[in-house]
Amino acid sequence: MQAAGKLMKVFVTRRIPPEGTKILSAAAECELSLWDTDEPVPRAELLKGVQGAHGLLCLLSDKVDAEVLDAAGPNLKVISTLSVGFDHLALDEIKKRGIRVGYTPDVLTDATAELTVALLLATARRLPEGVEEVKNGGWSSWTPLWLCGYGLSGSTVGIIGLGRIGMAIAQRLMPFGVKRLLYSGRTAKAHAAEVNGEFVPLDTLVSESDFIVVSCSLTPETQGLCDKAFFSKMKNTAIFINSSRGAVVNQEDLYEALSSGQIAAAGLDVTTPEPLPTNHPLLTLKNCVVLPHIGSATYSTRGVMSDLAARNLLGGLRGTEMPSELTF
Ligand code: NDP
Ligand code: DGY
Repeated sequence: MQAAGKLMKVFVTRRIPPEGTKILSAAAECELSLWDTDEPVPRAELLKGVQGAHGLLCLLSDKVDAEVLDAAGPNLKVISTLSVGFDHLALDEIKKRGIRVGYTPDVLTDATAELTVALLLATARRLPEGVEEVKNGGWSSWTPLWLCGYGLSGSTVGIIGLGRIGMAIAQRLMPFGVKRLLYSGRTAKAHAAEVNGEFVPLDTLVSESDFIVVSCSLTPETQGLCDKAFFSKMKNTAIFINSSRGAVVNQEDLYEALSSGQIAAAGLDVTTPEPLPTNHPLLTLKNCVVLPHIGSATYSTRGVMSDLAARNLLGGLRGTEMPSELTF
């Protein structure tokens, strides 16, 4: 950990792209304390590091609950998370203490939508299997029914959560010749008209879609949403993609659906836990493509996220406007 004697203590829970660290180091009122590794801060170190902090810059892997807030004490004015998702933050406890929260919406929408489309295509057209066969000598000749998958042309796509990222995914998928775009969520969205989106009940989306993409936020309502009953309503030829949060899916039920042929394939950028243990049953399945939570992982996006998270933090410390403040 590093520390330099300045005024308000800021604890940063991980090495972050330099865009953000530069801003914080240059802020005269900050005494910066950084968990300077690429590994998550152990819980005990988080509880220690946050003591007396005025500002906390955290990641989605840091659970910020009453224990952390109590450890921080009454100085804490602002929590800035380097993520758009905020399910790791105990907002009720944060609110009680009058702490402001910054997050990073919009700046990662394009990168995450792009990765989700890449994952969908890789899963539906069986790219990891194909690459593996080329390497292991399984490629004998051009074979009419070998490594066939499913295409988007003429298909029905269902998006669960047509928010910023869901909408950006829809915009990227439509040019592939998608015939119908269904979406579900709490409310119908005016912006859905741009992609001819039809707001339908979840059951309709699940049973009529050829591709289901989960891009909603993780809430008590969406936790475990994709379970046995959900998968049992899907077409046997349908593809399931999740780039939201792992906990939206019941992974035992997904394993069962994939291994029994109830659904065709799944692509996951997010899992529970993260990292997924290398001996996890899902990793034994050819029809399951798992990525290590890389939705927003482009150099430029991560740099912009870091810059935004630092500016959010400074706004909270200074009691001025934060570029992206969460209202809750
Ligand atoms: P938004 O807030 O713009 O969108 C979230 C959507 O979730 C809203 O459209 C909301 O719909 C929907 N939603 C909420 N409750 C439900 C529900 N019960 N059923 C269906 N939909 C629901 O957020 P973003 O699009 O910016 O981000 C979405 C999520 O993506 C983040 O919360 C994060 O978890 C994840 N993410 C993952 C990344 C990755 O690397 N894989 C990168 C970035 C984000 P409504 O408005 O109707 O409530
Ligand atoms: C987020 O921002 O919520 C993602 O999961 C990581 O970029």
